[in-house]
Amino acid sequence: MPQQVIFTNAVATTLAAELDRLQPNRVFVLTDENTVGCVWPELAGQLPQATVITIPAGDDNKNLATLSRVWQSLQDNGATRKSVLVNLGGGMVTDLGGFAAATFKRGMRFINVPTSLLGAVDAAVGGKTGINFNDLKNEIGTFKEAETVIISTRFFSTLPESELKSGFAEMLKHGLLDSKDAYRHLLASDFQTADAEQQLTLLEQSVNVKRRIVELDPCEKGLRRALNLGHTVGHAFESLALHRNRPIAHGYAVAWGLVAETVLSHIEMQFPSTLLYELAATVYRIYGAFPITCDDYPALLRYMRHDKKSEHGEYNFSLLRDIGDVVTGHACDEETVKTALDIYRDLMHI
Ligand code: GLY
Repeated sequence: MPQQVIFTNAVATTLAAELDRLQPNRVFVLTDENTVGCVWPELAGQLPQATVITIPAGDDNKNLATLSRVWQSLQDNGATRKSVLVNLGGGMVTDLGGFAAATFKRGMRFINVPTSLLGAVDAAVGGKTGINFNDLKNEIGTFKEAETVIISTRFFSTLPESELKSGFAEMLKHGLLDSKDAYRHLLASDFQTADAEQQLTLLEQSVNVKRRIVELDPCEKGLRRALNLGHTVGHAFESLALHRNRPIAHGYAVAWGLVAETVLSHIEMQFPSTLLYELAATVYRIYGAFPITCDDYPALLRYMRHDKKSEHGEYNFSLLRDIGDVVTGHACDEETVKTALDIYRDLMHI
């Protein structure tokens, strides 16, 4: 059965109704130190019996030590397979909480309530759960869908602008994968200044792109790789930024990666140049540019070759023939990737 995703800004009553439907013997809420203060008070009244487990915030803590603490709390407080874990937070909480639930007593049920735009548009939906291990992101994990995902925009007003921009990059990606009309509509809307209900409508359209793809290929054997659009170069930019000790937000890296991979799409698949220029101008206006020189190419190429999605150490991409027309698993040669980086620099005025 496809995962149930509910789009609503009435989060507290919807969550209560879902718990009523699932009839758990115990309810646990996993949240982080940021979310527990600003979001949990809005929901606490509806879940008086819940045991709250609070973990440190941030991707650095998406690790085995934190996971072990969550398993310990579940065990200490009598969780069973009939219990439900509510993951309340950003992608770190829904990834780690989903994995904790998937593995505790061989699997207990969980509900995701993402509180960040990036979490809502990507991490909370589609069943990828896991933790980082030995400095590798999402190295250990499993595919396990939440019983329900409750998506709202009501917590976004507490997010810094950079967090909204970060999530918006994944919406741009979904727009490119969807259709010309949906993409046009997204570019014409001003997501950041839209009210919570308008944001929810745009978010629903965006999340549904991912849902349609995941339904056809839940375990990423082929089509789901379309969702990696922008991520092969994006992850390389992220790794380079980390190496420079100046980390960048994931969504920003994806936005810049989308530009570079759309250049590749133009070279390899004749993606229309007018759409490429429009995307580059939009990304530059919202995110500025990630600065690179040709001296960075060897490191960037190395990161791309070692990307989890690359097979046989080659450069592997999801590319677009046009908006809504994606090709997955396309191998490019090194010279073409370098040319795309040159053009990325021109388009980003570097
Ligand atoms: N974040 C891409 C996916 O869920 O497949």
